[in-house]
Amino acid sequence: MSPALVREIVDLRLPDLALWAPGPHMLTPAVRRVLQTYQTTYSHRSAAFKACYQKAADLLREVFHIPPGFTPLIFGHTGSYNWEMVAANTPRNCTTLGMDIGAFSKKWAQVFQSRGRQIDVLKANWGEGISDQTWADAISKSYGLALLTHNETSTGVMLPIQEMCDAVRRISPQTLIAIDAVSIAGAANTPIKTLRPDYYFWSLQKDFACPTIGSVMVVSDRAFDMAANTPERGYVLDLIEWCARAETAQTPMTVADLTLQCLIARLEEMKREGDQRFKRHRNLAAMHREWAAAHGLRLIAQPGYESLTVSAIRLPRHISGSDFVAKARALLNVQLGAGYGETVARAFRIAAMGHTSERDMQRVLEGLSLLLANWSQLE
Ligand SMILES: Cc1ncc(COP(=O)(O)O)c(C=O)c1O
Repeated sequence: MSPALVREIVDLRLPDLALWAPGPHMLTPAVRRVLQTYQTTYSHRSAAFKACYQKAADLLREVFHIPPGFTPLIFGHTGSYNWEMVAANTPRNCTTLGMDIGAFSKKWAQVFQSRGRQIDVLKANWGEGISDQTWADAISKSYGLALLTHNETSTGVMLPIQEMCDAVRRISPQTLIAIDAVSIAGAANTPIKTLRPDYYFWSLQKDFACPTIGSVMVVSDRAFDMAANTPERGYVLDLIEWCARAETAQTPMTVADLTLQCLIARLEEMKREGDQRFKRHRNLAAMHREWAAAHGLRLIAQPGYESLTVSAIRLPRHISGSDFVAKARALLNVQLGAGYGETVARAFRIAAMGHTSERDMQRVLEGLSLLLANWSQLE
């Protein structure tokens, strides 16, 4: 590497490692403060735990505009368990529509199949979304439940979730709607009072920028009614058990108070930033797209379906996803993700989650431009 290039890279290198892969994300300042001062001072059946749970539930109601008739549940397990929870609380004779637009939506449909549930799968090629007409045709078949993946993290495809929910209510109002918002909740403006999903869940390690210590699911009364009519729900995934306990700010089994404290800190941080955070996320995602276009690179997501929180960008042929990610970590101090599955070698993924500022994003993108322009010198 020439000394001039070394100097340019050093100037752009972030002072602390930034975890911007679309998996677990770097912690925000508020979450870090909780972790630095955490002490175990009360048990999960104490009044202090109940107060903490109640505060987290109230903040969820406020930040996500959750109206009566919908209950936020806070879990010590991650998002995948909620795929399974939706299946475990769906009767076997309920016909379900799932989707396969990438690795995560496909897996959720497989979970339904492996639990012996009846499921039809709406399939699209990686990068493609689902058009209004395709969706309208699919849901006209009177399903009991439809599974929607708001943000397909493997490809950076985001679906128009509000329009899709509105279409279900117009065409097939009896169909329950379950939304996997694992990698987008918090970053997208999706008030529950207008979305009105029957299940809406996310993991805390993505835009909530907590360690991987839990997840949240908002559940409608309609979904609780369906669960009550589902035999063999087991225990840990039984929605009726969780709902009964939530009424008294409790959980069936132990949920860490640390999970609640991190969640509270992040929700308060979101409240302080207010709706500005939605604009920040739009700007960050636009910066990804502009950067790719300036280098003649294409996103895996087709136009109109680009995600707010994760961009999967195809690399030039001579650069592999894992090499690019390794160089970005070593030289710029940023951890990105390679492509996923079949795109692992040809793309990289960069998140726009948590508290990331436009200034830091600009700096990293300038650094990535340097890597691209000088690749032969780096090898
Ligand atoms: C869209 C989506 N759904 C579900 C999951 C699984 O979530 P978890 O790893 O929290 O179990 C992931 C993980 O990345 C995801 O991106």
